[in-house]
Amino acid sequence: MNTQTHKNHDQPSEDVIELLAAADTEDLAAEPEVAATTAVSVAPGRLAIGVDIGGSGIKAAAVDLDTGALVSTRHRVPTPQPSAPTAVIDVIAKLIRSIAKEVGAGPDVAVGIGFPAVVIDGITKSAANVDHGWLDFDADAAFERVLKRPVHLVNDADAAGVAEMRYGAGVGRMGTVFTITLGTGFGSALFYNGRLIPNLELGHMEIRGRDAERRSAASARIKRSLSWKAWAMDLDEHLLAIEKLFSPKLFIVSGGVSKRSENFIPRLTVRAEVVPATLLNSAGIVGAAMAADEREHAAS
Ligand code: BGC
Repeated sequence: MNTQTHKNHDQPSEDVIELLAAADTEDLAAEPEVAATTAVSVAPGRLAIGVDIGGSGIKAAAVDLDTGALVSTRHRVPTPQPSAPTAVIDVIAKLIRSIAKEVGAGPDVAVGIGFPAVVIDGITKSAANVDHGWLDFDADAAFERVLKRPVHLVNDADAAGVAEMRYGAGVGRMGTVFTITLGTGFGSALFYNGRLIPNLELGHMEIRGRDAERRSAASARIKRSLSWKAWAMDLDEHLLAIEKLFSPKLFIVSGGVSKRSENFIPRLTVRAEVVPATLLNSAGIVGAAMAADEREHAAS
């Protein structure tokens, strides 16, 4: 497994992007959007803007850092194709401007961005499901130049995991816990006694001679037109391989499919407990905002 050299052979094709986007939109329809007016009650300094970049969509909202609640409209726009850095930065700049206006966020309000690749010190180090322009790209600096406010990138699955551990299904769960984020790729975040070990990339474990996520990601079910049962077996094989190596107590399954957990969780045979995420599609946004706040405090 060499995360530095992943090829974007698996960058989603247009029809898969459309299907994923449709599934996501369906999910969104069920999610209440918090009215902009609720932002008024948020004390200055406890607000950050979270962005979740996925293979098919970019989601963003302002987040109340004390409660983990979204305090602006939750935006979702398609990820530009190709997803080159300049195109993505441009789209996000528009989103941030509109959210900042909505909640009255000044230039000190930081932006956290969950990105679907290895991210070390703000530099994106791999590009499995995104344009290759992101390889070894100083993303924090590039975003800050355009957004003119503090920006911190983290791995998307790490962001979603951190939010679930703080506000969702992982609250109070000690020992070894995985949050698994299923979307275009298979994201994995490992926690021990609540502390994250970042950039794990278990989507790229080799199973049956190829990247495991090509069978176990949510997009793999759609791309291969599989039944929930058939896909659950592929996901199970991947989780069993992870369990063999790490012996977790708990898997928390996040991403759009977590809303359909009854279709696959009962079919999994891992020994560990498996539960759906409770923050559903907002975990990535909330966790990215939390990461930005944490980095800002570490820097000051
Ligand atoms: C990427 C990870 C990401 C996951 C979920 C994988 O293809 O390599 O960095 O967390 O997809 O988006």
